[in-house]
Amino acid sequence: MSLKDVFLYLSENEVLNSAAQKYGLQLGAQSVVAGTNIDEVMESIKALNAQGISCTVDNLGEFVYDKEHALQAKDNILQVIERIHTEGVDAHISLKPSQLGQDIDEAFCYDNLYDIVKAAHAHGIFVNFDMENYARLHSSFTFMERLLEQFDNVGTVIQAYFFEAMDNLEKYKDVRLRIVKGAYKESADVAYQSKLDIDQNYVKLIEYHLLHGKFTSIATHDHNVIEHVKQFVAQHDIPKDQFEFQMLYGFRKEMQLQLAAEGYNFCTYLPFGNDWYGYFMRRLAERPQNVALVTNELLTK
Ligand code: FDA
Repeated sequence: MSLKDVFLYLSENEVLNSAAQKYGLQLGAQSVVAGTNIDEVMESIKALNAQGISCTVDNLGEFVYDKEHALQAKDNILQVIERIHTEGVDAHISLKPSQLGQDIDEAFCYDNLYDIVKAAHAHGIFVNFDMENYARLHSSFTFMERLLEQFDNVGTVIQAYFFEAMDNLEKYKDVRLRIVKGAYKESADVAYQSKLDIDQNYVKLIEYHLLHGKFTSIATHDHNVIEHVKQFVAQHDIPKDQFEFQMLYGFRKEMQLQLAAEGYNFCTYLPFGNDWYGYFMRRLAERPQNVALVTNELLTK
C-alpha cells in the first residue's frame, strides 16, 4: 500500500473522524483550514479580498447519515450566504451534496440543495457542487441539472481521472465548471490510475472548456499546468474574464498572490469548521510533502 493509499484509507475512517472533531484543529490542519466558525472564515475572506483574491467557502462536513446533521449543515451554509451578502465580500459557496443528505434520501437532499441555491440566487451568489467519489457522481449531476432548470447560479466539478470526464464536459459545456484532477480513490474500471494519464486528460479538458465552454475554474497547484494555461489563453485570445485559477487555502500562498498580481482572476477555496479530518487526510494523500505539516506540529509540541 502506498502512502497515498494509506491516507485515502484513513480519510474514510469514521471513528477517527469523530475523534478528530473533539480535539479542534490539530496535526497541522489549522494551516489549511480557514477557521472553525463563520466569524473566523469571514475574517479570512476579507484578508484575501484585500489582496485581490476572491473566495469559495466550504462548510466542512462528512459522514452525514442522519437528517438532523444534514439540516444543521444547510443552516450553516444559509448563514454563510447571508454573511457574504450583508458584509459585501467577494465570495461564493462550495458544498458537498453528501453533507446535505445525498446518502440518506435523495429527495430530502434535493430539497436542501434547492433552499440553498434559491437563497444564494436571491443575492446573486454562485453555488458550486463539489464532486466526491464515483458512487455519488451521477446523482450529483442530476441534482445540478434539475436546479439549472430554475436557477442560473449553479455549477459543478469535472474530475479528470474519470474515463467519462470528457463526455460529461461536453454535456455540461454551458455550465460554469471547476476542472480538477480528482482526489478520491477510484477503481480502474472507471478511472485512470497513472499520473501521466490523469495529467494529460486534465489539460485536454481545460483546453476544451476554455475554447467551447462557459466560465472555467482551473483548480490546481500544478505550476506546469498553470504555465501551459497561461500560454494557451494568450495564443487563443481567451479573455481573462472567461476563467480563473483556484487553489486551496494554505497551499502555494506566494503563487496565489503572484497570479492575482499578474491580473488573472484568482479564487481561494476556504474550508472551515470542526469536521476537518477527511479533508485534511485527502490533502496528505495528494502530496507526501504535506506530511511535513503534521511532523512539524508534533515536533514542536
Ligand atoms: P498535483 O498534486 O498533481 O501536483 C502536481 C505538481 O505540482 C507536483 O508534483 C508539485 O511539483 C507541484 N505542487 C503541487 N502542490 C504543491 C505545493 N503545495 N507546493 C509546491 N508544489 C506543489 N477534487 C475532487 O475530487 N473534487 C473536488 O470537488 C475538488 N475540488 C477542488 C477545489 C480546488 C480549489 C482545488 C485546488 C482542488 C480540488 N480538488 C477536488 C482536488 C484535486 O482533484 C486534486 O486532488 C488536488 O488539487 C491535487 O492535484 P493538483 O492538480 O493540485 O496537482
